[in-house]
Amino acid sequence: MQTIRTLEALRSGIGALRDGGASVALVPTMGALHAGHLALIEAAKRPGRKVVASIFVNPTQFGPNEDLSRYPRREAADARMLTEAGCDLLWLPPVEVMYPAGFATKISVSGVSEGLDGISRPGHFDGVATVVAKLFNQVRPDIALFGEKDFQQLAVIRQMVADLDFGIEIQGVPTQRDDDGLALSSRNIYLDDAQRAAAVALPRALGVAAKAIARGDDADGALASAREALIAAGFVVDYLELVDALTLTPGTDPARARRLVAAAKIGATRLIDNLAVPPREHA
Ligand code: PAF
Repeated sequence: MQTIRTLEALRSGIGALRDGGASVALVPTMGALHAGHLALIEAAKRPGRKVVASIFVNPTQFGPNEDLSRYPRREAADARMLTEAGCDLLWLPPVEVMYPAGFATKISVSGVSEGLDGISRPGHFDGVATVVAKLFNQVRPDIALFGEKDFQQLAVIRQMVADLDFGIEIQGVPTQRDDDGLALSSRNIYLDDAQRAAAVALPRALGVAAKAIARGDDADGALASAREALIAAGFVVDYLELVDALTLTPGTDPARARRLVAAAKIGATRLIDNLAVPPREHA
């Protein structure tokens, strides 16, 4: 696997990958890779396709009181994991390549970015959309893959790609989970043993509520019970909502695919998770 840090080298590296007609898949990451990222690489691999991963801890998507400075950085270990996973090229832009002096553009996707994390993390999705647009223009992939754990991020990127005619296929990849159900996240390393043990309440509460709603139980009641379970486990709930899977507006129509989405803090660590609630056939 080639590791590249300049735009000039990236252009010729991607050109070489495409020689002979291969297509290119991009897996954008912020590093501190885990099995969830490796599942994205695995899903990207196809005959006749080359896989590019990017690692960039994007300052513009972190709020002033968030964890930018302590976000885990493990470049060498990440590069080893990507090589073993069969990635062809690692794009590692320095911050001054991504945001040179005088950088002045921001992409803001309205609608899907406004609720949920958009309320708790103002400016976060502008930072995500802007850096992902830059990565798309730098790498010019045919397809890009993102984890469904960041469900709202995936919706924001899909909207941006449609609105700005990027012509890039966006593939969502199901959330990877530890054996007890906790969604894999680079931020899980912030949890101490007691918090890690308690954190399993998040996927469990979502699972119970999603099943209840899918079989037709009252959604408000299911959400209230899930909230109680989270509070009992020591979480401070930021949001716990049933939303339409496409628009992310309140999911009041049982005939449409819905998503149960949650963000909650345990200690200083904010975890997010989501589960599908399938449409009811005769709703
Ligand atoms: O999901 C992430 O790791 C980041 O938000 C992304 C998409 C790489 C943009 O910085």
